[in-house]
Amino acid sequence: MLTDEQKQQLIQAAQHVRQWAYAPYSNYAVGAALLATSGRVYDGVNVENAAYPNGICAERTALYKAVSEGERDFLAVAVVTSNGGSPCGACRQALAEFGLHLQVLIANAEGELVGETTLEALLPGAFRPQDLPSKL
Ligand code: THU
Repeated sequence: MLTDEQKQQLIQAAQHVRQWAYAPYSNYAVGAALLATSGRVYDGVNVENAAYPNGICAERTALYKAVSEGERDFLAVAVVTSNGGSPCGACRQALAEFGLHLQVLIANAEGELVGETTLEALLPGAFRPQDLPSKL
């Protein structure tokens, strides 16, 4: 469990990075910040593309940055949008690869916590690495 101060720090990181969102098509800027058990925070934004399906969400940008730096264990993710939007299904699945006990903090553009949940609650019945026969 994160302290209130840790939560606020993570939200602030997501709020800060949100300015770099590249969202000329949706105009919906998203900032995410992922806290690893190492203590490091990896931030990310949504990056859209003229070929729409090539765009990527802020949560997955943060996740892939973290994994690329050798991280595999995560404590919490904060997501900041204009209206307190929740992580999309694709991001839930991408995060589930690394564990369902992830705290999810949802905040608005002012950095106010508007929702707090877990990945387990957001993605019931998740398909996990252990579900592949080769991983049994
Ligand atoms: N988006 C995110 O970055 N994270 C989410 O969880 C929801 C959606 C982005 C994708 C797209 O660039 C824009 O928000 C509108 O869907």
